Amino acid sequence: MKSLLKFITCGSVDDGKSTLIGHMLYDAKLLFVDQEQALKTDSKVGNRGGEIDYSLLLDGLIAEREQGITIDVAYRYFTTEKRSFIVADTPGHEEYTRNMAVGASFADLAVILVDASQGILLQTRRHARICALMGIRYFVFALNKMDLIHYNREKYARLEKDIRKLAVELDLVNVKIIPVSATEGDNVTQHSSNMIWYRGETLLEYLEGVNIFDNDESGFIMPIQRVCRPDHTYRGFEGQVENGFISVGDELTVLPSGEKANVKSIFHTDKAVNSIFAGMPVTIQLDREIDVSRGCVFVKGTELYVSSMFTALILWMDDEKLVEGKSFLLKLATQKMPATVMRVKYKVDVNTGEHVPVRNLYKNEIAVCDIALSRKAVFDEFSSHRTMGEFIMMDRLTNMTSACGVIEHPLRRSDNLTWQQTEIDRTIRSAKMNQRPMTLWFTGLSGAGKSALASVIEKTLSMRGNFTMLLDGDNVRMGLNKNLGFEEGDRIENIRRVAEVSKLMNDAGLIVLASFISPFRSDRRNAAEIIGKENFVEIYVSTPLEECEKRDVKGLYKKAREGRIPNFTGINSPYESPENPDIIINTSKCTLDEATEYVMKELEKYLYVE
Ligand code: ADX
Repeated sequence: MKSLLKFITCGSVDDGKSTLIGHMLYDAKLLFVDQEQALKTDSKVGNRGGEIDYSLLLDGLIAEREQGITIDVAYRYFTTEKRSFIVADTPGHEEYTRNMAVGASFADLAVILVDASQGILLQTRRHARICALMGIRYFVFALNKMDLIHYNREKYARLEKDIRKLAVELDLVNVKIIPVSATEGDNVTQHSSNMIWYRGETLLEYLEGVNIFDNDESGFIMPIQRVCRPDHTYRGFEGQVENGFISVGDELTVLPSGEKANVKSIFHTDKAVNSIFAGMPVTIQLDREIDVSRGCVFVKGTELYVSSMFTALILWMDDEKLVEGKSFLLKLATQKMPATVMRVKYKVDVNTGEHVPVRNLYKNEIAVCDIALSRKAVFDEFSSHRTMGEFIMMDRLTNMTSACGVIEHPLRRSDNLTWQQTEIDRTIRSAKMNQRPMTLWFTGLSGAGKSALASVIEKTLSMRGNFTMLLDGDNVRMGLNKNLGFEEGDRIENIRRVAEVSKLMNDAGLIVLASFISPFRSDRRNAAEIIGKENFVEIYVSTPLEECEKRDVKGLYKKAREGRIPNFTGINSPYESPENPDIIINTSKCTLDEATEYVMKELEKYLYVE
């Protein structure tokens, strides 16, 4: 079977990357007759005065032809006698960084076009940096338009030196430099008679011959995708071997647990096999019963981290900015879990590589961040094991991919902490109080009546013999959260701390009433996760803005309207109403007593079941 090379071409509008690949297909006689005819006909009215315009072959999308740029990732398949290829053609503009990252994430090799008449540009650095970030290890710099510099050897030598310097700067190891002319065809598939001083391979020769499988990653690694259990006698673990090889009889370690077992049998495409290696989808049976589920990783002869915090380089791709403290779903190998970007350490200028301290990230920016996972996971540094060191982060509400990233190193802080089990625990404390500890979370606009309602409900509960604690936005912000304001990042932290405190108070056995605007859905969800969904009751005080503003008990709406309070919820900062609150109450439609009675009735089913 011919080996497959997946590569990406990077260059900007005028660098000629579509022309280069088009020329390669044409020369290598990889076109169908009708494609070739269409190309000749189209070229007659094209940009090259009747000469064949090879870029027409690649610019598949009508819109991009009209605009003269490539706007999406176009994948092309072609096969020569020696190898099969898939090429991702992506746009080079800065605003299309995301497309390039998507294309690069699938590729083994990058062909970076450099216009020889212009030399290395900022965008060349950006393209190379993004490809390296996305895990590409093989780079071809195609110095294009050599015809425009009259195939000048000295000029080429200078450019070559610049590229070697760039390779050192970006830590690129496997770098090949080829002088070409995409329009004229020099060194594309045939050695150029215009550059006899160049003794290396042509672009196609190089792509056909380059060995991308000589990776130096250690050991056997297989993340588990599925546990297959057709009946009680058989348990097979399915997944794809990501690195190394293993045979029947070998001993494996299962991470994160660290338990060991021997391989009893291996199946590949329904056939029992003795050994397996990287790239193969397989089912493994072990010789003893151990706990293995999706997300676990089988390893042999290598070590991976089992930890819950790491520092990573991420590419932010969301239209919304990234705010520290925001929670996402993180996917790494076959694991998926909630994770939080704790701190944005600095962003990396994609063009210059400069480190710029920031707190927020905007679309297409690259940054180094500290990320905390909601539980321990199995991972590695990207430089050691590619598949165990790359991840994506998805928005928890839209499920859209917000970022992709690679792990630089684990953060050991959390590893050196051990949860101390106390003898008296929540169960004992709450049994003494004869109640079920819960957190009743009141959310709604300022002035909606949250605090008043929470206060009367606390009194009612207290009179019934319950032990309670009321946490109120204004009060907590005068103490524990004195250092926080009302910007998005601060609100996230405000809610996180309150959730942690509520949980502690629930541990103490108390019923907590938390009254906070908590305007963001994702923060309330995060709070529910910290507190425990089974102990969390979301009460939406849905009094409309007009009513809150009419009441304006604290005079804040007036001030906000006058522009004297920035980020005031409802006025110049959003409130995201709950989609599925447990209880909903509009205080403009009833008296406080009626509201209390209604909420108390609704609470019955949460507070008094055992
Ligand atoms: S939250 O958004 O972070 O949940 P929290 O409930 O703690 O807010 O605090 C809200 C209280 O702070 C309001 O009731 C109001 O008295 C006061 N406040 C001061 N500035 C603002 C603001 N910009 N937006 C909302 N509330 C504000």
